[in-house]
Amino acid sequence: MADKKATLHIEGKAPIELPIIEGSEGQDVIDVRKLGANGFFTFDPGFLATASCESQITYIDGDKGILLHRGFPIDQLANNADYLEVCYVLLYGEVPTRAEYEKFRTTVTRHTMVHEQIASFFHGFRRDAHPMAIMCGVVGALSAFYHDSLDINNDLHREITAFRLLSKMPTLAAMCHKYTTGQPFIYPRNDLDYAENFLHMMFATPCEEYEVSPVVSRAMDKIFTLHADHEQNASTSTVRLAGSSGANPFACIAAGIASLWGPAHGGANEACLKMLEEIGSVENIPEFIERAKDKDDPFRLMGFGHRVYKNYDPRATVMREACHEVLEELKIDDPLLDVAMELERIALSDEYFVSKKLYPNVDFYSGIILKAIGIPVSMFTVIFAMSRVIGWIAHWNEMHSDPTNRIGRPRQLYTGYSQREFKPLHERE
Ligand code: CMC
Repeated sequence: MADKKATLHIEGKAPIELPIIEGSEGQDVIDVRKLGANGFFTFDPGFLATASCESQITYIDGDKGILLHRGFPIDQLANNADYLEVCYVLLYGEVPTRAEYEKFRTTVTRHTMVHEQIASFFHGFRRDAHPMAIMCGVVGALSAFYHDSLDINNDLHREITAFRLLSKMPTLAAMCHKYTTGQPFIYPRNDLDYAENFLHMMFATPCEEYEVSPVVSRAMDKIFTLHADHEQNASTSTVRLAGSSGANPFACIAAGIASLWGPAHGGANEACLKMLEEIGSVENIPEFIERAKDKDDPFRLMGFGHRVYKNYDPRATVMREACHEVLEELKIDDPLLDVAMELERIALSDEYFVSKKLYPNVDFYSGIILKAIGIPVSMFTVIFAMSRVIGWIAHWNEMHSDPTNRIGRPRQLYTGYSQREFKPLHERE
């Protein structure tokens, strides 16, 4: 509702009245759409103060450390629902009845196999390719396999696409791992739940079944849940922007995967583990803490800090508990985990990190859990991608359900040359 107004006074111009739109939670926004017609654009690199869309899926209050999916606090979801129930909530906006949940779960379970030809597609990659590189390629290629339901204006087609992505991402992710290690691909099993099935496809071989530990599958499910959505972050905004042109959904999700890969975003869990390896032992921590504070040193403590959370990351609180549970249960004796725990302790009491509100984020703890479970470090961001696919698809679907949706086309502040004359090469010699 736009009953409040902001007035913009620009020297030499008539005041411009801009509507203020109120959300159901959080900051109101100043609707600047008509500024262009008045000869101005707004300038906000990195979107520090710009709402790129309207959404009803997820709300974050970074100062209070609140994360709500469709109104439900993340800790309540993580502790009382499984990942697929959270997926249902994200996709449809309401909690499912038991019958709706069972139907949803069955549909996801029954679509986990991928087209057999996709296995051949994998063989085009080098064995030492990074699994995220393979994921970008293979997920994008799904549009070539499932082109029967690519009408983005058809609600049913969009729903089928959501199911396909949710069901097949774990299969593709596990195939990446198997391909890199040179082991045969393992088919999904319909008698296992979502997290168990993923662990089975990752760790079973044709010679030996993998016995899934309930503690490990619970922790895996929590990792999926805590990464499911996070409103308009870089990868989700990428999916929306790619999708706004009407591009096919698999290509849009591949774009999201590419954006997620960066170390400032989903790549942080892998970067965090590599950092722990670089630190090596507890005695070296102070040196790295000093480097992280040094403005002339590009080194940062990976897994610390967040653009939105300036109090604590509520996902990290849940993940921290799960992390300690897994470490205790599996009785892992890994010196790297000692480094992680000591780094957490020192950074939480260091003036620099405390004053800048740089707390461990979700990726700090998820990396430690994944390492303890035995997931190779290069697969960490792939697991983030398969967990986040539901968020991406929920936002993509929301965007296409809105009849007022327009292609995303940011403006710029141009600071390059003004027009100048181009002389052909022979005249410049
Ligand atoms: N180590 C050391 N200093 C840091 C760190 C860090 N991890 N993060 C931020 N700072 C400092 C930064 O140098 C700056 O200092 P100053 O004000 O003196 O210039 C200040 O804190 C603010 O940092 P910023 O880069 O302006 O903050 P941002 O909001 O642009 O970046 C971030 C947020 C997450 C990219 C950043 O904190 C970072 O690079 N963290 C490490 C990577 C990481 O863990 N990313 C995962 C985020 S959670 C998963 C997800 O949702 O994607």
